[in-house]
Amino acid sequence: MSTNSIDSLLHETRRFPPTAEFSANAIAQAGLYEAAKADRVGFWAEQARQLLHWHKPFTETLDWSGAPVARWFADGEINVAYNCLDRHVLAGNGDRVAIHWEGEPGDSRSISYAELTAEVKRAANAMAALGVGKGDRVAVYLPVIPEAVVAMLAIARLGAVHSVVFGGYSSESLRSRIDDASAKLVITADGGWRKGKVFPLKAAVDGALANGTSSVEHVLVVRRGENEVEWTAGRDLWWHDELEKAGAEHEAQGFEAENPLFILYTSGTTGKPKGILHTSGGYLTQVAFTHKNVFDLHPETDVYWCTADVGWITGHSYVVYGPLANGATQLMYEGTPDTPHPGRWWELIEKYKVSILYTAPTAIRSFMKLGRAIPDRFDLTSLRLLGSVGEPINPEAWIWYRDAIGGGSTPIVDTWWQTETGAIMISALPGLTTLKPGSAQVPIPGVKIDILGEDGTRVDPPQGGLLVVSEPWPSMLRGIWGDPERFRETYWSRFSKADDWRYFAGDGAHVDADGDIVLLGRVDDVMNVSGHRLSTQEIESALVSHPIVAEAAVVGAADETTGQAVVAFVILRSDQEAAQTVDEASTMLRAHVTGQIGAIARPRQVFVVAELPKTRSGKIMRRLLQDVAEGRELGDTTTLTDATVMQIITDKLK
Ligand code: PRX
Repeated sequence: MSTNSIDSLLHETRRFPPTAEFSANAIAQAGLYEAAKADRVGFWAEQARQLLHWHKPFTETLDWSGAPVARWFADGEINVAYNCLDRHVLAGNGDRVAIHWEGEPGDSRSISYAELTAEVKRAANAMAALGVGKGDRVAVYLPVIPEAVVAMLAIARLGAVHSVVFGGYSSESLRSRIDDASAKLVITADGGWRKGKVFPLKAAVDGALANGTSSVEHVLVVRRGENEVEWTAGRDLWWHDELEKAGAEHEAQGFEAENPLFILYTSGTTGKPKGILHTSGGYLTQVAFTHKNVFDLHPETDVYWCTADVGWITGHSYVVYGPLANGATQLMYEGTPDTPHPGRWWELIEKYKVSILYTAPTAIRSFMKLGRAIPDRFDLTSLRLLGSVGEPINPEAWIWYRDAIGGGSTPIVDTWWQTETGAIMISALPGLTTLKPGSAQVPIPGVKIDILGEDGTRVDPPQGGLLVVSEPWPSMLRGIWGDPERFRETYWSRFSKADDWRYFAGDGAHVDADGDIVLLGRVDDVMNVSGHRLSTQEIESALVSHPIVAEAAVVGAADETTGQAVVAFVILRSDQEAAQTVDEASTMLRAHVTGQIGAIARPRQVFVVAELPKTRSGKIMRRLLQDVAEGRELGDTTTLTDATVMQIITDKLK
């Protein structure tokens, strides 16, 4: 972010205090901050007891003796699925709609808590019959359909561990995730709907399992796309057949609070994605707490909609676990925002009378580009709260969101968190905080955040630094699957001293004069494209795996809609230079990255260059390439081995 825009963010003067009416009815009251301040750990114990059902109550709240691996509520026992299902039915809310689901072609289903519970029980029995039990890993590769939720909860119900892989990832990405976690079972669908077409999922699973050495014993296939699929007898089974055979009764058993709940892969600074591990009791406590208090959830009357795919952490925490633990009624939508028309989201809000909407700045900016006339055609007056997540929201987009979508009156909660943090860490509480566009503002009660300078000392406002979490929190990651060393190195080595553990988030942040936190984006080689995390190195590895490429460098260049965009610079192998035109090479390489990782990683541009700028120690200077990609004057080139390289690159690109 340029210094100019940081300045304007820090001097943002618009303020939006909550209305008296909102505050009076708000779930979160000021006492929360006071209670957390008086006894932070005790505060979380209280939340865990109030919000969740424990099969066996815990007596110990936090064990930090094995830092940086925390144990929360460790002697307690819990069943995560029971908390999201059975207990609501037992409390007399079985008829409440859990999920209004809308398929992209316009088909829809409304599923009550009683129905969802029954379906999960059958799915749990079906999976148990296939040998899935406590601790086993199950990969889930599904579109946004109710079966994705059913599958995740059934796995959780058995004490097994899900690894959901976003349906847009390629066969290759799926394969590496299945292998890393040694998954026993894969749950997929024949296809899903996207942009008016069925995209095949089963074929990607077949590709991922093709070399025959996989740990996978069975593939359960949901029928959704009605497209043709290949079938491996003995291995592949239809979801509906297995559920039909399965018994209807399933008693949820309690598992220890630290029993792993899921692994979710996310990009880091190296080429290999990290399997972020989350466990049960602490995770569910913080997602339930934040979902209720940040979104001001009134489960009897609200209709909540989080637009995230279940393949991302936002989908895990705020489509599946948070809302269902709190007994919310929510909308799930399978497709893209512009199919079959650009007002589809607003039509859905009108149809289901959505009252709380949680989405990403990139979506808001693309709607902004299309203009207000589109949302203006729909009745959006049911909305009373808006949320934002995934990347910094610029004040213009914030104001547009509030005016065009929120009718000029809804509060907006800008929520900062990560796959690793499991749940929201920094956000306004809508009945309490005076909102400020462009700032996520304050840590939630019970979370301790600091902004440190390079030397590890706290910066004074208004100054910039690096964001750390200074005390363990319930939904924190418990590790990187199979790689404890990388876990310590990535998150804990930078600022921790002796017994003083500091979690380094990888984000830069400023504290403004009011003490509010303004997020500035990643400080490492991680890009944020449309709110999705991508690693520059992972894309570089994908590029150099193509036979025509000798070397590659990838940068995230500022992009008006997607926040950042992937821009690649490649050197072709000398025997290939003449063989293809630059355009051919670029098209081929964009397709290659899609095949290796998935369409989300496809570079916006691939530039064929003769050389890359390197320091004397051989490090690629991505900063300079970023200047070129963003059309800026070049920064300092004095540390380059050969300063003329940049001139050649810029001249060529002109
Ligand atoms: O850079 C921050 C950005 O997204 C990163 C985490 O990405 P991921 O693990 O994919 O999770 C995204 C959804 C929680 C962070 O390191 N980020 C997330 N939310 C915000 C944000 N940056 C600024 N403001 C936010 N509200």
